[in-house]
Amino acid sequence: MSIRDSIRVCRDYNEMSRMAAEVFADYIKNNPHGILGLATGSSPEGLYACLVEKYNKGELDFSGITSFNLDEYYPIEPDNDQSYRYFMNHHLFDHVNINKGNTFVPDGTAADPDAFCRAYDEQIKAAGGIGLQLLGVGQNGHIGFNEPADELIGGTHLTELTESTIKANSRFFASADDVPRHAITMGIDNIMSAAGVVLVVSGKNKHGALMALLDAPEDPHVPVTLLRRHKNLMVFCDEDAYNG
Ligand code: GLP
Repeated sequence: MSIRDSIRVCRDYNEMSRMAAEVFADYIKNNPHGILGLATGSSPEGLYACLVEKYNKGELDFSGITSFNLDEYYPIEPDNDQSYRYFMNHHLFDHVNINKGNTFVPDGTAADPDAFCRAYDEQIKAAGGIGLQLLGVGQNGHIGFNEPADELIGGTHLTELTESTIKANSRFFASADDVPRHAITMGIDNIMSAAGVVLVVSGKNKHGALMALLDAPEDPHVPVTLLRRHKNLMVFCDEDAYNG
């Protein structure tokens, strides 16, 4: 199967969000004790809104669901409104009947980040592995916070953010100086081990990353291209991202 068979080009952000949310809704219905891998950023916000809407209509039950988030800034307090824990509570967890004790986000306050990362990988394994992983992509092709590199790291790890990511993400902070310089992120093996992967790509500024996934050779300097090897990848993009 070619990567072109995995992609669905949607009219706009809203259609992309609705279509991708359907995949998550089906997964949750079919796997009431399923394990979700979740992502943050502006790309998945609409998808979360669709899931909350479905929950409010009585179509979804999150009570048995467990979730592991991809990444978190480091250091950051969970109640900082720029933390990914805050984002997840605000966009999804506070609005559905998920047991918050079963929602895991890397700990931006971990005293020993390496020990935390090993424990996070163990927790994912002990839960049975990720059933459906949601992903966005950075303008430079990063997934989670797996930044372009000569070689990507397999497991959860502490990483240094690139200047381009700090600049791109500074739109959410008072200034670029306020963006944490590090993050804890799941690694490429964590992502590739998920049974299914849903990638959402929206906007003209993601055109380059999307085209790299579709056409460029696999290259750790554009981490998203490694997804091409995944056996069950679903890509939802909008026309802006596709046409540039
Ligand atoms: C951050 C996150 C990624 C996300 C990316 C794109 O760097 N760590 O998981 O995919 O931003 O974000 P956005 O969807 O806001 O463009």
